[in-house]
Amino acid sequence: METLLKSKENVQTIWRCPSNIAIVKYWGKKGRQIPCNTSLSMTLSNSYTQVAVELSEKKSEEQIQLSYFFDDKLNPSFGNRVQQFLKENQSFFPFSKDKAITIRSFNSFPHSAGIASSASSFGAISLALLDLTYSLNGNTLTEEFYQKASNLARLGSGSASRSLFPGYALWGENSFVANSSDEYAIKVEEIHPVFQEMQDAIIIVEDAPKKVSSSVGHQLMENHPFAEARFQQANANVLQLLDILKRGDMDAFIHICESEALTLHAMMMTSSDYYLLMKPQTIAVIEKIIAYRKESKIPLCFTLDAGPNVHLLYPKSFEKQVKNFIENDLAESYKQVIYDEIGEGPKKHTI
Ligand code: DP6
Repeated sequence: METLLKSKENVQTIWRCPSNIAIVKYWGKKGRQIPCNTSLSMTLSNSYTQVAVELSEKKSEEQIQLSYFFDDKLNPSFGNRVQQFLKENQSFFPFSKDKAITIRSFNSFPHSAGIASSASSFGAISLALLDLTYSLNGNTLTEEFYQKASNLARLGSGSASRSLFPGYALWGENSFVANSSDEYAIKVEEIHPVFQEMQDAIIIVEDAPKKVSSSVGHQLMENHPFAEARFQQANANVLQLLDILKRGDMDAFIHICESEALTLHAMMMTSSDYYLLMKPQTIAVIEKIIAYRKESKIPLCFTLDAGPNVHLLYPKSFEKQVKNFIENDLAESYKQVIYDEIGEGPKKHTI
């Protein structure tokens, strides 16, 4: 492997993996990270995690010897989650029996931006570790590699499974979609040009840590009164969205995208332990987006993650007008804006 360094006993690889924004949301899981419905996302470009993984001589008796650094500092809180992930999936990394693993990780986006980093982190970690397994066995990185890495990433964080593909990715078995699987995501192949240049301005209205984690949110779907209807709705939305992405129907895209965002938050508000993650500024931004779309006829729309920040999606051809709108009309509602766009998927770094 060209980028695999074999300096004495040490072996190293570096990968970058982007974050993604779900249009149809994954919310509710069962068993071992199996989603309750199909989800579909757009892979981002500028918001990514880069990890360098290095193997060296193992000196301890521990099942896994891991040192996890984030921004050049040892980070035990995420490190413990990664350690657990490695233990549970050790069969993917036979080298971990006699090698110590050092992971150095950083995010391209500010720590305080409120962007979920588990998708890009587990994407990058899975790619890098699996790359080492493949390289040490002399295997090349074929399509099967990305499928396996997506499976692995899903075991770390569900949404990470979708970050490994360029453009749009679908995760979850759907009887109408060939090759779809609960275990890994697949690339969505047929995309109309209008959707190949989508922009995502991430409007950060609040950067404090979330009150309720996504794992708790997923759990609350277990006894949720609307769960079954929601899972069916999401599966139907994915099928519609595949057709919309193929045909280039922007109005229909906007409808599904915004309805999915509000439904996700409606699930939080109607679970037994109900909670709210939207803030007054979230609502203010959403209302201004809808009003501006009506008045300007520019096809921009919003979506939300499990948090208060707003993703503003629009085609590249309206870049200038949307930037003006953000800087003039939304100025009072946000702390910062991260301009991102549809991306090409993960990249291996040449050392
Ligand atoms: C609202 O992938 O963060 O972003 O599998 O527990 O790590 P875990 O959950 P996670 O959930 C993401 C939920 C979401 C919607 C989505 O990305 O589909």
